[in-house]
Amino acid sequence: MRSGARRQAGARRGLALALLLCAVQGAAAQEGAAGGAADADRLRQAVRADYVLQCAGCHRVDGRGSSPHGIPDFRQSVGAFTHLPTGREYLIRVPGAAHSQLSNAELAAVLNWVLGEFSAAQLPANFQPYTEAEVAAARPNRYDDVVPVRHKLAETLSSMGFTLSDYSYGSDRKP
Ligand code: HEC
Repeated sequence: MRSGARRQAGARRGLALALLLCAVQGAAAQEGAAGGAADADRLRQAVRADYVLQCAGCHRVDGRGSSPHGIPDFRQSVGAFTHLPTGREYLIRVPGAAHSQLSNAELAAVLNWVLGEFSAAQLPANFQPYTEAEVAAARPNRYDDVVPVRHKLAETLSSMGFTLSDYSYGSDRKP
């Protein structure tokens, strides 16, 4: 009897221990997932802050820019550039982006954020986010004159069925 009781007690302890382990593992897994989501959220906030500080002075917090001041609207437009390799590069090399104080990694993150936030519907289905390496490779190649580059891209994209937002910068030189 005594040994049976001990065995039962032992079995109960074993079961209790197993449940406790499950609970701890479950909690750890949940904490891990919540931690990951919190980290991703913090990162998104940091990238948004970079956009607000470095870009929104001209492009506005909601991305609408200011056509009378030559600042194009990002909304439902800027994503279209990523359908062309030269367009992908343009987003990095455009003076406001290339000359910003952001590091290459930060600029890659801001461009990805801008595209997702303001123009997700214009992105290709297989859109590959910008990486630090891609930004680092294209960024030093500054344009002598960005205006004809933008007009050429608009022409090509328009033949592919994309309508870009109005571009009044350098409008005295419109083709
Ligand atoms: C001092 C004002 C100013 C700031 C700050 C600025 N931009 Fe711009 N941005 C412009 C102007 C003006 C244009 C249009 C002329 C041109 O193409 O450079 C433009 C154009 C662009 C375009 C091309 C959009 C299109 O439809 O052709 C992108 C992309 C862009 N900016 C990204 C950025 C990013 C990213 C930042 C922040 C890191 C930034 N800009 C900061 C003024 C600014």
